[in-house]
Amino acid sequence: MNFSNKLQKLPTQFFAALVNKVNAAIAEGRDVINLGQGNPDRPTPAHIIRALQQSSEDPQTHKYSPFQGIQEFKEAAADFYKREYNVDIDPNTEVAIIGGSKIGLVELPMAILNPGDHMLLPDPGYPDYLSGVVLGDVNFDTMPLLEENNFLPVYENLSDEVKERIKLMYLNYPNNPTGGTANLEFFNDTVQFAKENEVAVVHDFAYGAFGFDGDKPVSFLQAEGAKEVGIELYTLSKTYNMAGWRVGFAVGNKDMIAAINLIQDHLFCSIFPAVQHAAIEALNGDQTCVDEQGAIYEGRRNVLVEEAKRIGWNILAPKGSFFAWLNVPEGYTSQEFADLLLDQADVAVAAGNGFGEYGEGYIRVGLLVSEERLREAVQRIEKLGIFKSASTVNK
Ligand SMILES: Cc1ncc(COP(=O)(O)O)c(C=O)c1O
Repeated sequence: MNFSNKLQKLPTQFFAALVNKVNAAIAEGRDVINLGQGNPDRPTPAHIIRALQQSSEDPQTHKYSPFQGIQEFKEAAADFYKREYNVDIDPNTEVAIIGGSKIGLVELPMAILNPGDHMLLPDPGYPDYLSGVVLGDVNFDTMPLLEENNFLPVYENLSDEVKERIKLMYLNYPNNPTGGTANLEFFNDTVQFAKENEVAVVHDFAYGAFGFDGDKPVSFLQAEGAKEVGIELYTLSKTYNMAGWRVGFAVGNKDMIAAINLIQDHLFCSIFPAVQHAAIEALNGDQTCVDEQGAIYEGRRNVLVEEAKRIGWNILAPKGSFFAWLNVPEGYTSQEFADLLLDQADVAVAAGNGFGEYGEGYIRVGLLVSEERLREAVQRIEKLGIFKSASTVNK
């Protein structure tokens, strides 16, 4: 049987290819330090697991959930935004429950654009944004995220033609893959840009819990007028180490929330109610676990930066997320350098070009192994002798 034309257009899942390579190396018996992926390494906090256990014993949770999610979960999401960001959210009209932010990102073009419409994506950016482009039958333009601009897009540099045709844009701060962060001023400018050009904004806040050096990441909805132009996607995957649980929510613009709810009425029957109850516990419960997790990532970041400096590798310290975006030494492409690290040092990293054209010249490292393993990874790289001259290219 043939796949549909649409399915045939889907890009090869970038992480799937990376996983295959790493698994092949592990199958050969090699001790690979895997810094390539974005899967949190620590467990879900115990109080959240207990909430799932208790809820799953209640036969009520074995039935279909309300299609648009449990009311108490929407209220917990609204309370969370008030407490964490001082943003007022109406749980009835401004929250949609989603099975992880990836689903929201993929279904949004289908929900609010027409085939052939244009959307605007960051480059480099999270590769799964492209799945939504193909499934929604839409086109995309890109905005470069450059080191010299602190990995923020510069709206003035977009051509009139692009500004005219885009109807939806995605942003993501703290940023995957660059580790860059955004401030309120940037989000205020974004609201202005969106109003001037009639663009709907989706801010992917997947790493919202993790800002370093005492800087709490800013929510897009803190910007004046943000709800008039867009939504924010929040996932429990990273904040509470719940990546496998598949739960998150969208908050903000009523029309976009209604569009998500409508498309989901047709695609899904919401999420297992016990998972929703666990999500309520995560959002309402003790947040010490989130602070502890952030401190662990920051500690790992510091080890990576110090160790790299020691061997003469002049890397950028990420300001948030759990990724570091490292310059590739002169003479290598991103892919060549990533292959070299896997083949000769048993260190897996993601090649920057997998995140877009402007990812060339970088590799992405996940801070998702212990400080000891990170130290060992840099020591293995040191043995390759590449950084003796300490010359790295700055893209
Ligand atoms: C930038 C970004 N957005 C969204 C996601 C998807 O997260 P979720 O588990 O909520 O689908 C990821 C996961 O790695 C991500 O890095």
